[in-house]
Amino acid sequence: MKLLNTLTEYGVFSKIFHWLSAAVLIIQIPLGFYLVDMDFSEKRITVENIHVTLGLSILYLTILRLIYKIFNPTPRLQNSIFIGQKLIAKLNHILLYLSILTITTSGALKKLYNGEELDMLFFNLEIKDNFELAEIFYEIHIIGNYTLIGLITLHISAVIIHKVLFKENLLKRIL
Ligand code: HEM
Ligand code: HEM
Repeated sequence: MKLLNTLTEYGVFSKIFHWLSAAVLIIQIPLGFYLVDMDFSEKRITVENIHVTLGLSILYLTILRLIYKIFNPTPRLQNSIFIGQKLIAKLNHILLYLSILTITTSGALKKLYNGEELDMLFFNLEIKDNFELAEIFYEIHIIGNYTLIGLITLHISAVIIHKVLFKENLLKRIL
């Protein structure tokens, strides 16, 4: 098993990035919905702190993953079964990265424009409050989440469709 990617195979680093991001997101999305339904309490503050820490970890992980992607080849997609298939797969991957970046930055900006000091894990940030912008960034946070859920559903459906209809096991490329 290779550590780095080649033009035909994902290496160990890419596999770890992929499954670590997926595992954290699978906890983080329901945690966000759980958080908004909570009344103000000590427990809500704890849950929000966990949500923010996990969210910022995904932001840094995604930035690292994209930097790694610049310096490492991305394995070529398998031969198309129908016209436009590779384009759809590429677009799905790009939009997955974009939606994660949008959700994490809008979550941070929502809190910052609310006038809260934010512990960014490596440094602290504080900006002048603007409640209108805080509202807008929270809307973006929510829309970004529904978009991400749609994209993950498409992503997983593609793997299942390939297996069931085309007898092609994509999963072993990333395992
Ligand atoms: C839950 C969150 C997930 C996210 C955000 C996600 C995101 C991504 C991204 C961005 C890539 C492209 C990697 C690159 O080359 O840059 C990818 C590849 C892949 N993912 Fe996921 N993934 C998730 C979950 C899953 C799950 C659950 C499966 C299995 C059913 C899966 C199967 C695959 C496969 C097979 C590839 C390689 C596709 C290929 O190159 O042929 N992913 N994923
Ligand atoms: C990919 C990472 C993230 C995901 C998947 C995510 C997901 C969610 C979801 C699903 C909600 C509930 C939305 C609703 O229906 O109202 C939510 C709320 C929230 N998120 Fe995130 N989030 C992420 C990152 C962050 C980050 C980095 C921050 C802040 C630094 C943050 C701050 C918040 C706050 C404060 C709320 C609750 C707001 C309130 O109740 O007033 N999130 N998040």
